Amino acid sequence: MKKKTLGVGIIGGGFNARFHIRSWVGVRDADILGVFDPDRKRAEEAAGIARKLEVGEAKAYKSITELVSDPKIDAVWISAPNFTRIEVMEEVVRALETGKGEIVGVCCEKPLGRNVKEARRMLDLARKTKLLDGYLENQVFAPAVVRGRGIVWARGAALTGRPYLARAAEEHSGPHMPWFWEGALQGGGVLNDMMCHSVEVARFMLTAPGAARGTLTPTKVTAYASCLKWQIPDYAKSLWDNSGGKTDYLKRPAEDFARSLVEYKDEKGNVVVVETTTSWCYVGAGLRLSMELLGPEYALQINSLDAGLKVFFSRRVKGKAGEDLVEKQNAEVGLMPVVSDEENEYGYTGENRHMIRSFLKGLRPSENFEDGLNVTELLMAAYMSAEKEKTLSFPPPGLANFIPAVAQGKWNPKSR
Ligand SMILES: NC(=O)c1ccc[n+]([C@@H]2O[C@H](COP(=O)([O-])OP(=O)(O)OC[C@H]3O[C@@H](n4cnc5c(N)ncnc54)[C@H](O)[C@@H]3O)[C@@H](O)[C@H]2O)c1
Repeated sequence: MKKKTLGVGIIGGGFNARFHIRSWVGVRDADILGVFDPDRKRAEEAAGIARKLEVGEAKAYKSITELVSDPKIDAVWISAPNFTRIEVMEEVVRALETGKGEIVGVCCEKPLGRNVKEARRMLDLARKTKLLDGYLENQVFAPAVVRGRGIVWARGAALTGRPYLARAAEEHSGPHMPWFWEGALQGGGVLNDMMCHSVEVARFMLTAPGAARGTLTPTKVTAYASCLKWQIPDYAKSLWDNSGGKTDYLKRPAEDFARSLVEYKDEKGNVVVVETTTSWCYVGAGLRLSMELLGPEYALQINSLDAGLKVFFSRRVKGKAGEDLVEKQNAEVGLMPVVSDEENEYGYTGENRHMIRSFLKGLRPSENFEDGLNVTELLMAAYMSAEKEKTLSFPPPGLANFIPAVAQGKWNPKSR
């Protein structure tokens, strides 16, 4: 690529897009120049944040085609809701194939698809147009994960043997928009929404720095899912009220708690294990990411709420509810952790810097749609295991066309 600075367009101008925009203060050699969102106001707002932060002279575009067709735009970031993945990617590809636009790369938020068929379609579309593809799994770029993994492998693993167990958890009190709660729109419940991070970051920590993903082969998956909080009538009612009467967790819930165990074999035949737990029913200070990596003579641990900065407000400080201390904050008084640079600590800054460096060099990012597809395959195997209540060999038969019961509106633990 001849250009020295890439022009980036963002598709979907909501909550996550704004995390990306804020992260851009730490990303070099690229400017955010456009946002498309069918909700024009959201597009204008997101573009305004980019301009205010001086990370690009962003403007709102009328369509994906218009965005991709602008010669100033060299790459697009897909941050639209899960149920729009395929139509969004198809429009990007159509604009390229009809000669309207020319871009070098596309990045897509998690999950790559709501099921294996969709994730595969995303990969096929990117390959067909020879686009460089980045899968946006921020946690594998989180500084604590990258540094911790590097140190543990260089010191502990080099002298005493590879790590054999990785644990990862992502927990908060529930998503911010009604569509996340709907199995059919989102693809599932918390398992699809958040275990995608946990299985991938744990797999990443268990893989030696520099080694290919293929050095670990998944062999077995065991999972469990339930709805612990949001079927309690008062909480189900709050979902109903927040969605204008659309989300009915008494009849059509999605899982708010899920765990999985993925067994892998490494290239020498050693068994290594990933253990994940995820929930939408954790009411602590806010979003909590925890990871562990254990080996014969060492251990690594990360907890995003063990923040270096804490503030205390007495009961006389009766301020407004907000998310100014930490994502998915649950309280405003008492002793509270503050994640002082969320975009960096969660990995967005490192992620976007890597994607931009890769695109400028004409290289495929290290985390790409192939990884997104692998993650989706593991998640769908986990749904299958939870539905059958047994351990499955990986890949289980029927994975390619499997749609979880929760995504079909047919799952309800109360009717078991
Ligand atoms: N990496 C992470 O930790 C993380 C965190 C949050 C969300 N996400 C992912 O990012 C994506 C967006 O989530 P969000 O939290 O921003 O949701 P959101 O609902 O806050 O924002 C989505 C935006 O997309 C817009 N939109 C709807 N249809 C569209 C279309 N066809 N084309 C373009 N835009 C469209 C909506 O108007 C809305 O403004 C999801 O896939 C989600 O899974 C990732």
